[in-house]
Amino acid sequence: MLEGRVVNLRLMEQMDVPLIVEWANNPDFGGEFEPIEQVTHAEIAKWLDGLPANEKWFFIEKKDGTKVGQIMFAPVGPHYVIGYRMLQSERNKGYCTEAVQIIVDFLFLTRDIVRIQAETNPQNLASQRVLEKAGFTKEGVRRKAVFIRGKWCDGAFYSILREEWREPKILLGPLA
Ligand SMILES: CC(C)(COP(=O)(O)OP(=O)(O)OC[C@H]1O[C@@H](n2cnc3c(N)ncnc32)[C@H](O)[C@@H]1OP(=O)(O)O)[C@@H](O)C(=O)NCCC(=O)NCCS
Repeated sequence: MLEGRVVNLRLMEQMDVPLIVEWANNPDFGGEFEPIEQVTHAEIAKWLDGLPANEKWFFIEKKDGTKVGQIMFAPVGPHYVIGYRMLQSERNKGYCTEAVQIIVDFLFLTRDIVRIQAETNPQNLASQRVLEKAGFTKEGVRRKAVFIRGKWCDGAFYSILREEWREPKILLGPLA
């Protein structure tokens, strides 16, 4: 488990499949800017089992263990990409920003990488605010890059470089 100040990140396990399925099948969880999908328990169990070793999916948990969201990272070429979603009732409490900071700390502390990136809908102001608060910079917009709810939408690209990160912000324990 990765411990922050207000949230912890816990790796998803097979025993979590029912909750992952419940969240994945709820269009409100992804919100208006994320693709809608419907998945079965069997599909998610197989997907979780088949994840490559360097792609990780975590629950974002409050300190009392309540699961309030999810965050992931995966390699893209020599870099890493991150993604995240929060339960509607737990948004705007700073949880996702800290989760992103934890992942950024973790990736720069454990991998010899120079860049972490994220892509979001240019109208997704909450997601862009999270990235800015966590030290990411907007790089540009990929036009009509993702198909969401019947429309081809633009994607705003953000990144943080190792020299901009400089040192761990949240993970101050044994890892750092
Ligand atoms: C994007 C998301 C993960 C943010 O999670 P969160 O835990 O609410 O994020 P935080 O509380 O750390 O920060 C949210 C920030 O966005 C701001 N914000 C929220 N809605 C906003 C809006 N409509 N316009 C402008 N700013 C907004 C909040 O005020 C806060 O900024 P502040 O601390 O300066 O006040 C959450 O909104 C979500 O799950 N959305 C649906 C899924 C999604 O879009 N995922 C990202 C795909 S790229």
